[in-house]
Amino acid sequence: MNLDYWTEHFRRNALDRPEPDWNAPVNLRGPALSKLGKSLQQFQLGDGGGPAYLIAWNHQRLLASDAGLKALVDLWFAEEREHSRLLGSSLKRFMVAEIKGHWSFSLFCGVRKLAGVQFELYALLLTEIVSHVYYKMLRKYTRDEAVRGMCALIIRDEAGHIAFHRARLAAENRRFGRLWELAFRLRGLAAGTVLWVNHRGALRAGGATDAEFYRGIWLGMDSFIRGLRGDLECARAGAAMKPCAQMVAECA
Ligand SMILES: [Fe+2]
Ligand SMILES: [Fe+2]
Repeated sequence: MNLDYWTEHFRRNALDRPEPDWNAPVNLRGPALSKLGKSLQQFQLGDGGGPAYLIAWNHQRLLASDAGLKALVDLWFAEEREHSRLLGSSLKRFMVAEIKGHWSFSLFCGVRKLAGVQFELYALLLTEIVSHVYYKMLRKYTRDEAVRGMCALIIRDEAGHIAFHRARLAAENRRFGRLWELAFRLRGLAAGTVLWVNHRGALRAGGATDAEFYRGIWLGMDSFIRGLRGDLECARAGAAMKPCAQMVAECA
């Protein structure tokens, strides 16, 4: 991977980030507000609020073998911590307390620790693809202006994270065949279902449907797989690497 190329992406992405207007009047009430509050609580913990770094038992070995990758992983997780800060501000806006634990996050962290860093990187990538769909749907269906502003920032960052994973996998320069694709899609559907079980109420309160969510995550995985295979074909044909902004736009 090109360290300079991705370092520049993260540096640019830190610019021009309008803070949502947390003090704008709140016009959500009743069940819609309480369901949204519960959903934001879990995301505040899971999206950069827990151990916002690789935690697999062998992650140090991977990072020690590639200083460039470690630098990019640090930048990636710095953005995840920023997501938690934004989500924490949204909780304060609605006067909802932060939570310190949730069964789905504890299970997720436990599996990541035990299963090793390669599994963990795939788990995080798939979580980012399905969360990206959640934030896009939240921006579409919530009536809260500040939450929409927060979603816009996080959606932009997650597109960069998904593109970063695509570049990381393309740099492995190996075959991503049908069996790999099947496993990738099944794991993505499992990750999406865990997310949907916990957050469906908040999005459905605004008018979202199950079909829209599952269509969204399927298309997200589709676009990732096509993009990755396209990157590999370009690399094998000796073509120049795509500009970072183009890769991020393809993952948006
Ligand atoms: Fe995030
Ligand atoms: Fe992310």
